[in-house]
Amino acid sequence: MRLDKLSIINFKNIESEDIALSAGINCFVGDNGAGKTNILDAVHYLSFAKSMHTLTDAQCVRHGEEGFIVDGRFTRDDDRPEQVVCSYTRRGGKTLKRNGKEYDRLSEHVGSVPIVVVSPADTALISDSAEERRRYLNRFISQIDRTYLAALMRYAAALQERNKLLKTSPTEDILLIYDAMLTASAEIIYAKRTEVIEQMKPLVAEFYAALSEQREQTNLEYRSELQTASLADLLLASRQKDFVNEHTSSGIHRDDVLFTIGEHPLRKFGSQGQQKSFLVALKLAEYTLLARHAGAKPILLLDDLFDKLDMRRVAQLLKLTAGESFGQILITDCNKHRLQHTLSEAGVEYRLLNITNGKAQL
Ligand SMILES: Nc1ncnc2c1ncn2[C@@H]1O[C@H](COP(=O)(O)OP(=O)(O)OP(=O)(O)O)[C@@H](O)[C@H]1O
Ligand SMILES: [Mg+2]
Repeated sequence: MRLDKLSIINFKNIESEDIALSAGINCFVGDNGAGKTNILDAVHYLSFAKSMHTLTDAQCVRHGEEGFIVDGRFTRDDDRPEQVVCSYTRRGGKTLKRNGKEYDRLSEHVGSVPIVVVSPADTALISDSAEERRRYLNRFISQIDRTYLAALMRYAAALQERNKLLKTSPTEDILLIYDAMLTASAEIIYAKRTEVIEQMKPLVAEFYAALSEQREQTNLEYRSELQTASLADLLLASRQKDFVNEHTSSGIHRDDVLFTIGEHPLRKFGSQGQQKSFLVALKLAEYTLLARHAGAKPILLLDDLFDKLDMRRVAQLLKLTAGESFGQILITDCNKHRLQHTLSEAGVEYRLLNITNGKAQL
């Protein structure tokens, strides 16, 4: 899928812009605070109907304005055109339209405009708690499997009810019903997480090796209590503890993914550039799996291309993504000359736009 034209009105510091994009590499360059990331965030709205940062819709409206509109004209891989418009007003809320037709529920749009974002904020995936990694997996797997998303929603609802129940004095029978509901959805989630992480492993290894020019080896391992016993048994075993603590201590809401470099935890032993390289490899693996599933190439957004990466790794990344397996790419960076230099070194074609105060110029 590719974005041919992006029209933005009153989105953050962008007042009104029509941006034409090429099918290959598109670069947005400009000073800090110019509005480069804001353009990528507008594209993110067309895919997920929300900001890629933890911003509310209202916070994305240009200061002093009533609402914003982001309008994207796409061409699908089978050449069909497609239009997605996301608009928000402080009074009326948010609407999302695909080819002129409004969605009843925003979740119906999930997966329709596949994108993969690499952003400096991704370091939270490594440094923060397991919850970040679960959220990442959930968002990614939901795009390729609707039964996963449905199971997640059922699991979350049952978990909330069970936790509420633990604060009262529930009978065994009632608890067993909730345990059974949790177990049923947990099995679906566990199986899918296992499958996806297994598929990611060789891809992450391959991309990391290319980025680092074989300097280091990395790995990822799924960690779940369900690898040791069934959730039904785990819940039964921790029942007394759950009563005391008034919450459910076992389940897929405690899963984690362990990232390693040379068999040591990446979080503790990886340098900043190694951690960033791992994140890029992870996202490229995600890209590959999304593309495989959709039978179409997602749009790749690389925010702050040089963030923590040395020139060689950036050049390797550009060579990788300019290859046949990838499609349209949107890149931002604050150093135009460094970017142009590295792009020509890598020998790839590109289109460049200068961003100043929320305005884009060729
Ligand atoms: N709701 C808003 N209304 C008006 N301006 C906003 C709003 N939200 C953010 N901004 C402005 O957007 C600018 C930040 O834009 P952005 O994050 O896209 O910068 P950038 O070009 O990516 O910079 P950097 O190189 O530092 O990453 C800031 O000047 C900020 O004040
Ligand atoms: Mg930025």
